[in-house]
Amino acid sequence: MKTVTRSFDYQEYASPDEMDPRDRELVQAARDAQKTSYAPYSGFNVGAAVRLEDGTIVKGSNQENSAYPSGLCAERTAMFAASAAHPGKAMVSLAIVGGFARKIDDKPCSPCGACRQVMAEYQMAGKRPLSVILSGAKKTLKFSCVDDILPFVFDSFYTESHPSR
Ligand code: THU
Repeated sequence: MKTVTRSFDYQEYASPDEMDPRDRELVQAARDAQKTSYAPYSGFNVGAAVRLEDGTIVKGSNQENSAYPSGLCAERTAMFAASAAHPGKAMVSLAIVGGFARKIDDKPCSPCGACRQVMAEYQMAGKRPLSVILSGAKKTLKFSCVDDILPFVFDSFYTESHPSR
């Protein structure tokens, strides 16, 4: 038996001003998307924006339903809309914001496991790293690829030959 340690680096920004302009633009798109959230049951409004390889930005927000499981998270709404409208185009970055009453929580909104699995799928399909930006009012975190927030994902793609390794 041996103990193996897995570690990774990520960026933490105190203000969006510190970020790359393209990332800042994507966070702003996620903030705009949050305004379209339909969340009468939880009151928690999430906005997401995904950038495609050609620079196109596709937005999504959480959409709830009185039959609760029928609703969908903002991230999956954005990624599914992107894939449906722009099939075959790689997704290169995804920004997420969330908070109650359409405000942005101080703490960055962290995606659920199901959304991480969907991110992993599109990262695999796009054959390039998909970075993930979680933006809160007090700090913004940037992860360079989905593997870092979903280690040991179920997929044969995650081998030594992964493009982000
Ligand atoms: N939600 C998202 O849209 N994304 C996340 O990453 C976490 C949760 C939504 C689902 C539901 O509409 C509400 O937030 C409360 O869980």
